Parts: sequence; structure tokens; C-alpha cells
Amino acid sequence: MKRRLTTLLATLGLAATLAACGSGDEATAPPEPIPASADGATVYALRCASCHGEDLRGTAKGPSQLSIVYEPNHHNDDTYRNAIRNGVAQHHWAYGNMPIVEDITDQQIELVINYIRTQQQQLGFER
Ligand code: HEC
Repeated sequence: MKRRLTTLLATLGLAATLAACGSGDEATAPPEPIPASADGATVYALRCASCHGEDLRGTAKGPSQLSIVYEPNHHNDDTYRNAIRNGVAQHHWAYGNMPIVEDITDQQIELVINYIRTQQQQLGFER
């Protein structure tokens, strides 16, 4: 119990430090909680859209999820799980690194991958 409290305090301290030095940097703001009942589209809107775009076609902060680069044979679902849990060092583009996605459950990760794959099938890849 004591150990857990110490860990919690350390975590809070770290969060406070990150928040303090990031004034004006929205990346350090705590993410909006994902409702337990959220579907894949909602998880995407809350955790991915700010960089990959509401319409999946990218923003100034992240690439389009409809790029042919993300077709399943090149980037399989494990690539998605890994990107979300561990972040991604910039390598395909010049948008910078993808940070670890905070506050998302394994189940929500499966929902969001499913959503993106369905959208990729429906909208088609950009060539
Ligand atoms: C803060 C911005 C940001 C957020 C939020 C974000 N990404 Fe990314 N993502 C990036 C950037 C930038 C790259 C490109 C890195 C590169 O290849 O240069 C990327 C790359 C990826 C890749 C490719 C990984 C690889 O190995 O090449 C996947 C898959 C991905 N994102 C999925 C997601 C999903 C799903 C979410 C939401 C759960 C998400 N991203 C949220 C910025 C973001």
C-alpha cells in the first residue's frame, strides 16, 4: 500500500512537472476520458483525429491514415498496437514523432483499429 502511494505520488509529480513546463503546449494537457461505451469512431475522434484528421486524411501534425503506406500488408494491425502503446519515431514522413497514446484500453485499441481498417476499405487508399 505504501509503495503504491509512493508510485502514485511520483506519477502525479511527473504529471505536474510535464504540465508546468508545457504551458501553451496542448500535447501535455490530460486527454479527455474515453466513455466506456465508446465505439471505434469515438475512440478515433478522441485519440487520433487531432493528428491524423477527422476524415483520416491527415493534418499538419500527422499523416493520412489512407496513405497507401498504411495498407495492411505494409502496416499490419500489430504496427497499430505498437504505435499506440509505444509511440513512433519519425521515419516515413516529416511530421515528427508520434507520442504514446495515453489513457486508452486494449479493447479501445482493437475498436479503433477496426474502425480505421473499415474506413480504409470503404474510402480506399490514396495512391
Ligand atoms: C500527436 C499526434 C498523433 C496522434 C494523437 C496519433 N498519431 Fe499516429 N502518427 C503520428 C505521426 C507524426 C506519425 C508518423 C511517424 C512517421 O512515420 O514519420 C504517426 C504514425 C502512425 C502509424 C504508423 C506507425 C508506423 O510504424 O509507421 C500508425 C499505425 C498510427 N500513427 C496510428 C495512430 C492511431 C490509431 C492513433 C490514435 C489511437 C494515433 N496514431 C494518434 C502522430 C500522431
